[in-house]
Amino acid sequence: MRKTFKANNYLYPQPVLVITSYDKDKNPDIMTAAWGGITDYNQISIALSNHQTTENIINNRYFSVSIGTADTVVSCDYVGLVSLKDDKEKINKSGFTIIESENNIPLIKELPLALECEAIEYSNEVLKAKILNVNCDESILSNGEIDPSKLNAIVYDPINHTYLSLGSIIGYAFKEGFKRQ
Ligand SMILES: Cc1cc2nc3c(=O)[nH]c(=O)nc-3n(C[C@H](O)[C@H](O)[C@H](O)COP(=O)(O)O)c2cc1C
Repeated sequence: MRKTFKANNYLYPQPVLVITSYDKDKNPDIMTAAWGGITDYNQISIALSNHQTTENIINNRYFSVSIGTADTVVSCDYVGLVSLKDDKEKINKSGFTIIESENNIPLIKELPLALECEAIEYSNEVLKAKILNVNCDESILSNGEIDPSKLNAIVYDPINHTYLSLGSIIGYAFKEGFKRQ
């Protein structure tokens, strides 16, 4: 027997994307988004409704998308609960520290992996952006490459509304399937 749940957005799991942007006066904002993903080699798309972050990105095309981590789960959830429109102290209370990339794009010191992005289009509440650069703190590298065991990324479970950490490697992509040939 199988059970059905009607039409629901039960894609599992979803990422924890932490978007950092500036308004026109360079005041930073940070928000969490789980409805997003890579839609081309150097393109990310995120479903963004009416937030301070959305206004910022429409006015100032450059922003970053960091990956939420286990160490920072409270801060990642906080910036998804509170809008800067409602609490001007949001960033001070968040536990995150704003730093800037060489491209003058705002980043979060506590999140070691970020995509520096430029908005291409915002329509029907979907933001499409070009990935300009991958910005990574050296602390999560092993032999010069990004090491997921050091990053400690979290994912979002949209069914149970929980954050989960990633497990260990269970297979090698583009290789395991050859065992069926
Ligand atoms: C786990 C989680 C996922 C979220 N995903 C999205 C999303 O994909 N798109 C969106 O528009 N809002 C999403 N939100 C809501 C925004 O993060 C939230 O409204 C935030 O307060 C906006 O902040 P701002 O107005 O300061 O930009 C999510 C919140 C949480 C906690």
